Amino acid sequence: MKLAFGPEINNAELGMSKHVYVTTAIDYVNGQPHLGHAYEKVITDVIARGKRSLGHPTFFLTGVDEHGQKIQQSAGAAGLDSQSYCDRLEKNWRDFCDRLQLSHNDFVRTSEHRHEAIVKAILNKLYAKGHFYFSEYHGFYSTRQETFLAERDRNPDGSFDPMYGEVMELTEENYYFRLREHQDWLIDYIEAHPEFIRPENRRNEVLGLLKNNTLEDLCISRPISRLTWGIPLPFDTNFITYVWFDALVNYISIPAAYGDPVIIEALEGAEPTPPAANPDFETWPADVHVIGKDILKFHAVYWPIMLKALDLPQPKQILVHGWWQKEGQKLSKSTGNIVDPIEVIDDWGLDAFRYYLVRELDIGPDGNWTDDSFAGHYHADLANGLGNLMNRSLSMLKRYRKGVVPDRSDELKEEAETVIAKTRALLEAYEIQQAVFIVWSFITRVNQYIDQTAPYKLAKDPEQAQRLDEILYNLVESCRLLAILIWPFIPNSATRMLEQLALEQKPDTLAQLQWGDLEPGHEVGQASPLFPRRDQARKQRA
Ligand code: ME8
Ligand code: MG
Repeated sequence: MKLAFGPEINNAELGMSKHVYVTTAIDYVNGQPHLGHAYEKVITDVIARGKRSLGHPTFFLTGVDEHGQKIQQSAGAAGLDSQSYCDRLEKNWRDFCDRLQLSHNDFVRTSEHRHEAIVKAILNKLYAKGHFYFSEYHGFYSTRQETFLAERDRNPDGSFDPMYGEVMELTEENYYFRLREHQDWLIDYIEAHPEFIRPENRRNEVLGLLKNNTLEDLCISRPISRLTWGIPLPFDTNFITYVWFDALVNYISIPAAYGDPVIIEALEGAEPTPPAANPDFETWPADVHVIGKDILKFHAVYWPIMLKALDLPQPKQILVHGWWQKEGQKLSKSTGNIVDPIEVIDDWGLDAFRYYLVRELDIGPDGNWTDDSFAGHYHADLANGLGNLMNRSLSMLKRYRKGVVPDRSDELKEEAETVIAKTRALLEAYEIQQAVFIVWSFITRVNQYIDQTAPYKLAKDPEQAQRLDEILYNLVESCRLLAILIWPFIPNSATRMLEQLALEQKPDTLAQLQWGDLEPGHEVGQASPLFPRRDQARKQRA
C-alpha cells in the first residue's frame, strides 16, 4: 500500500490516534475539472489546513469515481478498455489537485484493488446479515442519469425531460438494499443531531423528504449484460455493484486499507479478509464530508443507512455547498460560459484564486463568479490590503531602523488576540468565510493604524524616535501573526511573508500563536510585492 502525502504534510502526524478526517466528493473521472470542483476541493483544503494549524492530526481524502456505464461507453468510443481509459483520465485530476496545492493525504481511485477489496467485504457482510434481497423490476431507465425513472418523472405529454437522455423500457432482476425499514430511525437521528447536516436549509430539505415520502429500497446492482465496468457482487458475479454503493464506500475503504480500527472491527469475519487493525490510524467516524447540493440525498439518506447496517458510527457532519454560476448564468461548456480554474491561476496566481473562492461564497448558498468582482477583490483585499500592509511595514522598518525589530510594544495586542481567538473558533466550526472576514478586518485595522499614526511623518522628528519604535514593532508583529492566520487560505503567501520577515517559524502554528513572540533585535528580510497591482501594469503597457 502506497502512502501519498501532500507536499507540506508531515508523515509523523499520522502516527497519532483519532485524526480529524475530512473528505470531498469523488469526481467522475471522465468529467472536466471546473470551477465547481475547484471550489469543493479548496474549501475542504482550507478546513483541513485549519484543523492542522490548530494542532489536530488530520487525514484529508479526495479522489475519483471511475466505475459505471457512462465511463464504459466513453472508453469504448475512444477505442480503449475501461481501465486504460481511466488510467489516462485520472492524471488530469491528480494534476488539478496539485495545481490547487491541496494538502490531501491520499487520492482514491475506485478501480484500485484496496478499494474493491473493502467494497466486496462490505457487500458480503450486508448480504450475510440479510440487508439485501433479489427482485424483479419493470420500468424506465435513463442511461445518462444512470437511474430508473418512475411514472411521476414523466412530463404531462408522456415524454421524459431531455436531461434524462435516451430512456429505455426494461424488465430486470436486481439486488435491493432494505432502506425503508430504517426511515424512522433516520428521521430520529437527524432530529437528535442538529449538526449532522449543515447548513440548516439542507437539513430541513432532508427531513422534509423523509417525512413526506416513503423511501424506496435502493437498487444496488446492474446485470453484467448491461454493465461490466465495476465491482462484481461477490455473492453473485452475474451482477455489478451499482455506482453509488461503490462510490460512497470510498470514505471507509481507504481508512480501512490503512487499518482504521473502528472500521476493521465492523468488518470482522468478512470476506475478503480486511487488513489488520492499526490502532494509530483512527479516522472513523469522519468529521466532515464536504459535498455539493446535488448529491445530498445519497449522502444524507443512503449513506447513513448503509453505515447503520454495517454497525458503524455516523460521520459527524455532512457539509453541503452550493453551486457556482458565472455572470449569473449556469456554467456550460457548450455556451462557453465557463471559468477555467487553471487559466485564472496562471494569470492571477493560485492564492488570488483560493482567496476569492472562500471570501466570495459562504458554504451553502449558490455563488456567482464575475470577472469584475474577482479583479476588484484582488486589488482591494490582496494588493491594497494584505500586500500593501506587508510592503509598507517592512519598507519602513528597513528605512528607519535598518530592518531591525525594536523593543516590544503591545498597542495592538488586545485586538490581535481577539482576532486570533475568533479565527480559531471559526476554523474549528468550518466557518471559513467568516474567518476570512475576521482576518481581513484586522488587515484593514492595521492599515488604518499606519494612516492614523503616520510613522513616515514621525520619522522626520528625532524626538519621536521612541514612538516610531513602538509603531514599527506593532506593524511587524501584526504581519507575523497575519502570516500564520492566512496559511489555511493562502498558504503560498503565508510562506512568502515568513520568508520576507526572515522568520524560521512554521506557517501551520495557529494553535501556538500569540502576540509578542517577535524578538526585538531580529533582522527582517527584503519586501517584495505579494500581489502586484494589475490595473497599473495594464495602464503602463497601454
Ligand atoms: O457527483 N458548483 O461527481 P461529479 C459547485 N462522482 N460544485 C459543483 C458544481 C458547480 N457548478 N458542479 C459539480 C459526482 N459540483 C459523484 C460523487 S461522492 C461519493 C460521488 C460538485 O464529478 C458536485 O456537487 O459530478 C459534487 O460534490 C462534486 O462537484 C463532484 O461532482
Ligand atoms: Mg455531477
